Amino acid sequence: MAQVVIAALATVGGVGKSTISVHLADKVSKGRQRVAILDLDPQRSLDVFCGFHTMSNGFYKA
Ligand SMILES: Nc1ncnc2c1ncn2[C@@H]1O[C@H](COP(=O)(O)OP(=O)(O)O)[C@@H](O)[C@H]1O
Ligand SMILES: [Mg+2]
Repeated sequence: MAQVVIAALATVGGVGKSTISVHLADKVSKGRQRVAILDLDPQRSLDVFCGFHTMSNGFYKA
């Protein structure tokens, strides 16, 4: 199956990059495609959207 890379890029924050990424990944994953989502923004909204929360010691609580 072909690999597809989709990037949500903008020089400004708060315009919906993380939101559209998580919704698109969710939709695509419902089909036969496997999905990996990466959030390169230090804000790391996708971590929170996916239920991962950074603890004070820098580790994630799953
Ligand atoms: N289509 C939309 N309609 C209304 N609010 C939205 C929409 N897309 C995103 N938001 C809200 O805008 C805020 C910023 O979205 P986010 O995806 O975190 O932006 P970015 O990743 O570009 O910084 C969030 O509070 C999100 O819930
Ligand atoms: Mg974001």
